[in-house]
Amino acid sequence: MDEQRRLYYLDKMGIQAWVSRTTKSVGIQDSSESSPLNLRQGKLAGASVPVGDNAVACLDDLRKVVSVCTLCELHRTRTQTVFGTGSPDADWMVIGEAPGFEEDRKGEPFVGRAGQLLTKMLLAIGLTREEVFIANILKCRPPDNRDPQHQEIMHCRPYLRQQINMIQPKVILAMGRIAAQALLDTNTAIGRLRGIKHCYEDTRIPVIATYHPAYLLRSPQQKRKAWEDLKFAVRVREENR
Ligand code: URA
Repeated sequence: MDEQRRLYYLDKMGIQAWVSRTTKSVGIQDSSESSPLNLRQGKLAGASVPVGDNAVACLDDLRKVVSVCTLCELHRTRTQTVFGTGSPDADWMVIGEAPGFEEDRKGEPFVGRAGQLLTKMLLAIGLTREEVFIANILKCRPPDNRDPQHQEIMHCRPYLRQQINMIQPKVILAMGRIAAQALLDTNTAIGRLRGIKHCYEDTRIPVIATYHPAYLLRSPQQKRKAWEDLKFAVRVREENR
């Protein structure tokens, strides 16, 4: 079975593929037993179950798996997948919704106008794009930039989970409603998700929700609230040293 299907079916079965921080080998673990890296217990996961030659050992391997993904119909209309960019050791992960027109062409997340605003938002809290890791909920562009569908989010979810497990960020910034709701597995409105330190799945990795830069371009009066969110995220990051 190819790697993308393996990840998808493991996810469906409630079994999380995980990566050891020390050996970077890949194993599987029943998510009912503990979190992928046992973060709640503050220790690394125990014995791994090798999964053979297809093991995803690092971000670059995962990138290759994602680049040939055909799990949903979006592969038919994409120019290329948009895996994410930045430091594999990043303390900050920034998660958006899905690639748009320009991202689909370039293969990089947040390179359009919204991306330029994101770059400024990051600089405002002292971060460059190179030192964070920027990715999206979906790795392929939805046609006409429509909202991602539930099924598409479900197919892509194991990839994002693997990215987060490999990078082990100190904080995740969820940009906009779709990203925040998908990361937190909720239908709660973005306005009510802001200002709260959430945790990613069953880990202690904090998730801070804020407005999407594309929304801020349309509604610049909301930039003040986004600035509050960024300052809040910095405080949470400081606490999580
Ligand atoms: N919007 C997103 O959510 N992600 C991108 O990569 C670009 C625009």
